[in-house]
Amino acid sequence: MILALTGFLFALFVAQTIGQILGLRRRNVNQKEKLFSELGVEGQSAKKIIGFFHPYCNAGGGGERVLWAAVSAIQRKEPDIISVVYSGDTDTTKEKIIEKVKARFDIELSPQSLHFVFLESRYLVEDSTWPRFTLLGQSLGSMYLAWEAMSILIPDLFIDTMGYAFTFPVVSLLGNIPVGAYVHYPTISTTMVSRVKNRASGHTNSGAISSSPVLSAGKLLYYRIFMYYYAYSLRQARFIMVNSSWTKGHVDSILQYSDTLLDAVHLLPPLVLLSLLSRRRGASPKEAQIVYPSCDTRQMAALPLAGRERVILSIAQFRPEKDHPAQLHAFRALLERYPEYRAPGAGAVQLVLVGGSRNVGDATRVEGLQALARELGVHEQVRFVVNASFAEMLGWLGRASIGLGTMVDEHFGINIVEFMAAGAIVVAHASGGPLLDIVVPFEGEPTGFHATTPETFAEAFRTVLTLSPSEDVAMRTRARTWAVGKFSAEEFEKGWDASGWRKWL
Ligand SMILES: *[C@@H]1O[C@H](CO)[C@@H](O)[C@H](O)[C@H]1NC(C)=O
Ligand SMILES: *[C@@H]1O[C@H](CO)[C@@H](O)[C@H](O)[C@H]1NC(C)=O
Repeated sequence: MILALTGFLFALFVAQTIGQILGLRRRNVNQKEKLFSELGVEGQSAKKIIGFFHPYCNAGGGGERVLWAAVSAIQRKEPDIISVVYSGDTDTTKEKIIEKVKARFDIELSPQSLHFVFLESRYLVEDSTWPRFTLLGQSLGSMYLAWEAMSILIPDLFIDTMGYAFTFPVVSLLGNIPVGAYVHYPTISTTMVSRVKNRASGHTNSGAISSSPVLSAGKLLYYRIFMYYYAYSLRQARFIMVNSSWTKGHVDSILQYSDTLLDAVHLLPPLVLLSLLSRRRGASPKEAQIVYPSCDTRQMAALPLAGRERVILSIAQFRPEKDHPAQLHAFRALLERYPEYRAPGAGAVQLVLVGGSRNVGDATRVEGLQALARELGVHEQVRFVVNASFAEMLGWLGRASIGLGTMVDEHFGINIVEFMAAGAIVVAHASGGPLLDIVVPFEGEPTGFHATTPETFAEAFRTVLTLSPSEDVAMRTRARTWAVGKFSAEEFEKGWDASGWRKWL
């Protein structure tokens, strides 16, 4: 009796949902026509709409630069495509956003083929809405947000550029349209899961949880289920671009992720519907494709290469993970091994730390670093330039021989690209983006150096400082050519083309 009733209610729910979905799709024909006439578009049948899901499109960060660079390239190359951005920035207007993009990124957007769908429920994806179970809350929130988006307008192709993978199943189901993604950062990684499994404490796993077996088991189950659905959602995408080797490594392992137990659970109704729905959509990509964001290096690339001073330059906010103390230790090692670099003297080398200090924590850190420099006996040759202006920073980039980066496992390192474009030879920690993506050989020749310990950093400095004049200029030229070309707008656009998004229209 109860079983029959449950079955009946479930069938009713399914019928109701199908009814809603069909209604949504039917209404969409009118919505599209309305949009076309609002934009004053002629020859409507030839027009296609790409929807970019980017709820924080007005934030002005690196992720937004990627979005606008992509939209602007499509506007220039594909006159028959209308770009629609789904955003939660309800406090602004299309004109203001276009203006800000121009001012902030120097990217031109044309109002004729751009439209915004403003979403009311963005608060559902905000951290502060979900003090507990943040990952789950935000993910469910993003699904609702996608529903809101699709009920206003269904595009012909949906591309998420902010990392809301849980929207993919919703969009595929509601709109019956292909989905693609540009991923900066995985929502959850296999490393996070194994950290809980091994009961290691850390950034995403507090000590209270790692020390309790019951809480650990609970959290592991939560992460495991979450990971399962995250992988499921990502596989709904027809193409996936990622911003770096680091992200590719994570996304590829998530695409391959499987869980026998949860797979078995999904053979039962009603969950089996999920597997059936995803099978209907065909093959998911086996791996993600790297499309590096472009960096604006024009001003750096105009700096002269010759006549560099004996300056080792670091450009990094005074945040703990940048590991400025390692820079001081490396510098001391250089001066100890090669006293000819000590001041006073013609050969004296200077270490210049340029960086922003955002708050009291940073300011205290700067004081600590100054004390450390004195303690190591190198303070007379170390200079701190806090909150430098852009012009001041360019000045240092034009004088420095060496660009220094000590952060471990930095995902990318835009400062490293800027060093190379500016002609400073990079010595960076042998990990993350600087190792895998940026300071890599070009035409079989090195474009900089990697190191790990104070001694290996010191030896790398020494190598740069003793290059013959011809080798010196050759290496600076090579690094500049590589960085400017590899992280250019043209390469970025080529990468998008290679993702094959056109064939899904
Ligand atoms: C990729 O995105 C992450 C997260 O925003 C960021 O930390 C990293 O620097 C980005 N990589 C590139 C190549 O921009
Ligand atoms: C650097 O800028 C921040 C915020 O812009 C400010 O709070 C801080 O006092 C500045 N520090 C220095 C040393 O100028």
